[in-house]
Amino acid sequence: MTESIIVLDFGGQYSQLIARRIRELNTHSVLLPYDATIEEIRANNPIGLIFSGGPNSIYAENAPKADCAIFDLGLPILGICYGFQYLADHFGGCVKNALISEYGKKSVRFDTNSTLFANISDISDCWMSHTDYVALAPDGFNVTASTDNCSIVAFENREKDVYGVQFHPEVVHTVHGMDILNNFVEKVCHSEKSWSPAYVAEKLIADLRKEIGDKKVLCALSGGVDSAVVATLIHKAVGKQLTCVYVDHGFMRKNESEEIKETFIDGIGLNLIMVDARREFLDKLKGVSDPETKRKHIGSMFIKVFEREASRIGSVDFLAQGTIYPDVIESGSKTGATIKSHHNVGGLPSVVKFDKLIEPLRDLFKDEVRRLGKQLGLNDKIVMRQPFPGPGLAIRIIGEITQEKLDILRDADFIFREEIAKAGLDSVIWQYFAVLTNVRTVGVMGDFRTYDYVLALRGVESVDGMTADWAKIPLNVLEHISNRIVNEVRGISRIVYDITSKPPSTIEWE
Ligand code: XMP
Repeated sequence: MTESIIVLDFGGQYSQLIARRIRELNTHSVLLPYDATIEEIRANNPIGLIFSGGPNSIYAENAPKADCAIFDLGLPILGICYGFQYLADHFGGCVKNALISEYGKKSVRFDTNSTLFANISDISDCWMSHTDYVALAPDGFNVTASTDNCSIVAFENREKDVYGVQFHPEVVHTVHGMDILNNFVEKVCHSEKSWSPAYVAEKLIADLRKEIGDKKVLCALSGGVDSAVVATLIHKAVGKQLTCVYVDHGFMRKNESEEIKETFIDGIGLNLIMVDARREFLDKLKGVSDPETKRKHIGSMFIKVFEREASRIGSVDFLAQGTIYPDVIESGSKTGATIKSHHNVGGLPSVVKFDKLIEPLRDLFKDEVRRLGKQLGLNDKIVMRQPFPGPGLAIRIIGEITQEKLDILRDADFIFREEIAKAGLDSVIWQYFAVLTNVRTVGVMGDFRTYDYVLALRGVESVDGMTADWAKIPLNVLEHISNRIVNEVRGISRIVYDITSKPPSTIEWE
């Protein structure tokens, strides 16, 4: 069984990130709640434990604590932030409340004789976020790092194999964060480091084969990387027991549906039903110009068409979905106002009844999914595809959607993407697309007066789509794109570039 390092989640915002960093170090890692039972921990074949940060004070009435027997497992332990204070308290040290919180980058002095800090510089920046601090290290623990403000920033007890750091090694602002985690993984836990994309792919396929047995699986393919990776994994696991359905709602970008056919049917021989529902969707959206109504209609139509196709296939036992870790967090969050109803057309709402959901990617981040996709042999067009909303071009046409407007937008968007790729910016800009506004303006072409649409171009830099800044595309590239579009696409007489960030704007226009 795969060996793993278990991250116990004490409520910190970076807990899952720690697990992901450990996986980046080619070691399997899972996140378990702080009160996981000893059996649950043992079931994961642990070689080490990490106690995460958390918002509580260790002396608070309901401060989260792990099952005490965890300290008898004989496993190496690394405590981070709250985890560090927890270890200090547990082993008989003392934690105090500071008057002022320490937040942000701090210069830390390291004792490089410490196993954890081997092969790093003696002074470097680390990311801090804490109010409580360790005022006294427990007996038998050596202090191994400090700042001007705080004399105990890290400690260790090699005999017990217990280590702790006040800062966050998992965030990028900690210069040697990955080296420190690597020292823990390699020098303290003696990881075999066998967790690689190839290994992950093999393991997921083997697990799926076991889970599915001789049963049937249905999967909605959206054209996005997540559902593509899920479908490929399941296809490799159980072949024709998987049926995929791709609903072509007619709002995909130029050539996308053809590329899906080429990759999945002609390429890997997926059992894929391509449903041409373009007419139905367009009819349903006739006369609709309100953005929310468009989204709702598309969402409900998608379910209707998908269910109709699913019922033709006959009974299936599992529904597979491309849920990834950020979706799990987002759907778990009860706060936050509804800004737009994001019908994730790739996934299906709970209206669709199946015995069981299969979500093989639910522990992975987007870039881990992309790496896995590459490993499975999917091409870059799919693996590196920029985010694309489920309702597609329908929410990039302001006002009523018509076939003519769709054709105009598709051609213009294609030129935009082609030129961005030619300029070598396709892997640099997070998301870029064209929007067909509902505004017409006067132009002049040759000797004729024109009265055509204004097209908006949007390019944004972002990490997760929650916030974004407009992309500073070089002016000569924009100029060339603008020239090409007005010359090659009939129906556009003016082009503008969107220079608003999110917030206050959203990335999509509708
Ligand atoms: P907004 O426009 O809300 O978009 O700033 C943030 C990110 O989400 C994408 N987006 C969607 N994705 N279904 C999706 O799967 C949707 O309905 C949807 N609407 C927006 C958008 O492209 C951006 O990346």
